Amino acid sequence: MWKKIFSVKNKYRGVIKHKVITILGIKISIKVSNRRLNTIPYQYKVNSKYLHNKEMVDAFELDQDRNDLYNYFLASREKTTNKPHHYFHIYNKHFQKYRNKPVHVLEIGVCKGGSLKMWKNYFGEKAQIYGVDIDPACMKYDDPQNGIHVLIADQSNRDDLKRLVKNLPLIDIVIDDGGHTTNQQITSFDELYDKISENGIYLVEDLCTNYWKPYIDSPITFVEYAKEHIDALNAWYFDSMNLYTDTAGGGKMEMPVFTKITHSISFYNQIIVFEKQRNHVPFAEYR
Ligand SMILES: C[S@@+](CC[C@H](N)C(=O)[O-])C[C@H]1O[C@@H](n2cnc3c(N)ncnc32)[C@H](O)[C@@H]1O
Repeated sequence: MWKKIFSVKNKYRGVIKHKVITILGIKISIKVSNRRLNTIPYQYKVNSKYLHNKEMVDAFELDQDRNDLYNYFLASREKTTNKPHHYFHIYNKHFQKYRNKPVHVLEIGVCKGGSLKMWKNYFGEKAQIYGVDIDPACMKYDDPQNGIHVLIADQSNRDDLKRLVKNLPLIDIVIDDGGHTTNQQITSFDELYDKISENGIYLVEDLCTNYWKPYIDSPITFVEYAKEHIDALNAWYFDSMNLYTDTAGGGKMEMPVFTKITHSISFYNQIIVFEKQRNHVPFAEYR
């Protein structure tokens, strides 16, 4: 048996140790020794060479839409934001309708402030960008003259979130790139989603953490929680099965708020996007 141990440096989780094992020269498997990564179901254990191979990244860049946001990221040399390349196509697809409008964007997770500058550059002059972080050191990125505002709050604290909503103008877009635990993601969504504008967008990223045990601190993960909302999109039709009959009161139960205010849920690699709109009772007719 031949063994090799190598390490990959990860900005947010420190150095991760990997083991490469060859058995009888036939079967090659990669065992990830990091306790956190060991919690990933077997099928998710991918060859780290795939994730870190520069040629793959170059090929990926060529395949991508070269939208303005991605071009900004590629041209940046400041090393103040860390985003997977495939996010840019998704961001642009959902956010482009808000460009050059007086949009209010709230990003949870400021870190080195790089993404706040990136959003400002993308959304334009009239946009106001709000960065929320638990770390008071992030206040140094507050730049109200240039439409960038930093606020200190804990995204898992409902009172903090209520205070944010109360003190800020109506938010159009939320990007959750905060602490990435499932409880933080669910609590923030629960507090903020119905408070943002009626055509607003709620995007949660880095959902890889939903497969890593140390980040799972709620009974269900955010991914599972979002999957449950697919049924809520179709709650209009539950009635025919009497699922919405409130037997105690003798009347009909209220349609979930989510059903009335949500247009779509999009599931991507590591990202889920909710798009809002005010819905009317659906009807069909012969024409
Ligand atoms: C991934 S970084 C943000 C990166 C930034 N959005 C970017 O793209 O450049 C995560 C940030 O979330 C913050 N954070 C961690 N837990 C938090 C919490 N409970 N509430 C708010 N922010 C939190 C951390 O302090 C850290 O700055």
